[in-house]
Amino acid sequence: MLVLAIESSCDETGIALYDTEQGLIGHEVYSQIKIHADYGGVVPELASRDHVRKTIPIIKALMAKHNLNKADISAIAYTAGPGLVGALMVGACIAKSLAFAWGIPAIEVHHMEGHLLAPMLEENKPDFPFVALLVSGGHTQIVEVKGIGEYEILGESIDDAAGEAFDKTAKLLGLDYPGGPLLAKLALKGEPNKFKFPRPMTDRPGLDFSFSGLKTAAANAIRKEGIHLAGGQSTQENAPENVEQTKADIAHAFQQAVVDTIAIKCRRAIEQTGHKTLVIAGGVSANTELREKLEVLMKKHGGSVFYPRPEFCTDNGAMIAYAGAQRFHLGSKDLAVKAKPRWSI
Ligand code: KG4
Ligand code: ZN
Repeated sequence: MLVLAIESSCDETGIALYDTEQGLIGHEVYSQIKIHADYGGVVPELASRDHVRKTIPIIKALMAKHNLNKADISAIAYTAGPGLVGALMVGACIAKSLAFAWGIPAIEVHHMEGHLLAPMLEENKPDFPFVALLVSGGHTQIVEVKGIGEYEILGESIDDAAGEAFDKTAKLLGLDYPGGPLLAKLALKGEPNKFKFPRPMTDRPGLDFSFSGLKTAAANAIRKEGIHLAGGQSTQENAPENVEQTKADIAHAFQQAVVDTIAIKCRRAIEQTGHKTLVIAGGVSANTELREKLEVLMKKHGGSVFYPRPEFCTDNGAMIAYAGAQRFHLGSKDLAVKAKPRWSI
């Protein structure tokens, strides 16, 4: 069975072809980053318009590249939510229209289920049950996964998502959008222990997170150091030559605080559930520090960590195609056009 997938929840148009026998046939991700960079964040209307422009041409090109035509496709999976409603509607309408025209089912997929199952696209994949850490720009969740569709959220962020905190702090440091990976790069040049930020909500039991205070802690440090950002240039009142180093030190301390906090909660989740497998997925799972810290943690617990290759950590169509194929197997075909900006997994 061959599934064509469309991911359009935010600022990436992801298209993929997944065959239940042969695995991933091919995929394409078109990023709108350049369009939104000038605005310092995603502009929803521009995102929708660009999905309209790109989706059909990418589908056509991908099918042509693999010598496939409509008769080869068994179902169309699309991201039905959560995400930007206009962007979701574009993907949903194109998926439903093609499904109608080709006489095949359209399958709605939860974006976070896509992220959660992305490690299944790798050769070395995790076995159920496992604990999944979902860390993206919109979500931070710890989920107990017993099988496809058997998910229990054990904890989540009560305010900003981890990726959102990375992006907001990066902006405070004068980095371009999306700042997460740029902040991680800057942190490499930072000296440890120059700044100490809190590990929020680790002093009480539970698996919930709060990251908005960390962003504030970083903002306070930036102000205290007298760093001013003007027109992309930063200056520091006291020692202008050190400004880049100070920014790197702050980035380092911020990243360390996020990574430590996440690791503490993951350790609790592993101890609480007794599972020996931890899966990390979503954009922030591309963070090398986080991966290394969690690898060490799981080694100590006699378990292992699984994560997708970097291109499948951030938004992509392949994960939606995989999740869609699994859903199709389970018989969850839905024929109403749905685009849900908020949707619990
Ligand atoms: O999963 P994703 O592509 O989109 C959402 O579903 O939100 O995640 C994007 C998020 C952004 O906040 C981005 O800054 C963050 O993932 N991100 C990173 C890294 N790569 C992407 N954050 C920290 N370190 C990275 N290396
Ligand atoms: Zn995502």
